[in-house]
Amino acid sequence: MPRTPTAARGAIITGWGTALPDKVVTNVDLESMMDTNDAWIRERTGITQRHVGGTTAGLSAEAGRAALDHSGVDPATIDTLILATTTPDRTVPASASTVQEALGLSCGAFDVNAACSGWVYALVTAHGLIAMGAEKILVIGTDTLDRITDYTDRNTGILFGNGSGAVVLEAAEGAGQMLGWDLDSVGAAESALFAEVGGVLEMEGREVFRRAVRLMADSATKAMESAGVVADDISLVVPHQANIRIISASLDRLGIPLDRASIVLDSTGNTSSASVPLALADALDKNRIADGELLLFVGFGAGMSAASAVVRWSPDAPLFTARSAPEAS
Ligand code: UT7
Repeated sequence: MPRTPTAARGAIITGWGTALPDKVVTNVDLESMMDTNDAWIRERTGITQRHVGGTTAGLSAEAGRAALDHSGVDPATIDTLILATTTPDRTVPASASTVQEALGLSCGAFDVNAACSGWVYALVTAHGLIAMGAEKILVIGTDTLDRITDYTDRNTGILFGNGSGAVVLEAAEGAGQMLGWDLDSVGAAESALFAEVGGVLEMEGREVFRRAVRLMADSATKAMESAGVVADDISLVVPHQANIRIISASLDRLGIPLDRASIVLDSTGNTSSASVPLALADALDKNRIADGELLLFVGFGAGMSAASAVVRWSPDAPLFTARSAPEAS
């Protein structure tokens, strides 16, 4: 089924921010914790270090505040906060509620859990809310995977880290930035990667790898078809940062060279819901994205879930509501 947006009321990203905990664990540090080595991890995954520590709400508030500051939006005008996370701080309530309080927002707030696809799921959901009348949404992706990772298991302990990335999404005149999207889930494959409540991540690495390459390429293709664009039109892919070989193999399938992808996993590891917004912020901060260019967001993860979106970078599109300075009371 084509996923082509039909709403006349679109949205654009007007600010972004990130947060990474200070504590870094290098591959060399891991050598004393499990039977592995730096050369193997770099060659098989592309990762050299990851960040650990912090809480999901704390990192989210830091990234969210940075995104709000960057956009210049008055926090009082945010009408929804969506937090993508697979590691909420508590089972109840949603960590989004804690973040809302920390940022002093008055708005709806909820968590989305679609594992490593979560932030793209949240971004698509936010566009839907804007089509229904919302005006300004804070979309955050955060995970603190160190709390569910066994750092004596070399199968999983080399991969995961903590982080957060956020964007401010505002209603825009006309169709806005999102040209097409795809959300997928293959529940039959959920046993390939899971953590029981109170447990740690358990993973069939090769099976996840095999499925991930196909899922990413299929989901990206569906999003591009719904946007009416082809791989050659895409200026930059912003993929989930799981393993450089997964990114490379899925881009091969799509016919997109690896140098057209934003890669941060060497310094962050796999940060699940945070990885796509971290890679987006990195590309924006390095001025790798010009107005009018097409971006392809593509995520996959436990579930097994996948999510993609094609976005035309258009920071200067007219906003639905003109910004005005807060009135003095
Ligand atoms: O968001 C989604 C999260 N999950 C993923 O992205 C995981 C996807 N899968 C992967 O990234 C890869 O499967 C891994 C990185 C987990 C493993 O890489 P691989 O190339 O699939 O390795 P393998 O399991 O096929 O193992 C190859 C060899 C084996 O040794 P032998 O049997 O050839 O002698 C393993 O015992 O590498 C050995 N090995 C290691 N050696 C050093 C496996 N893990 C390690 C390790 N350090 N950490």
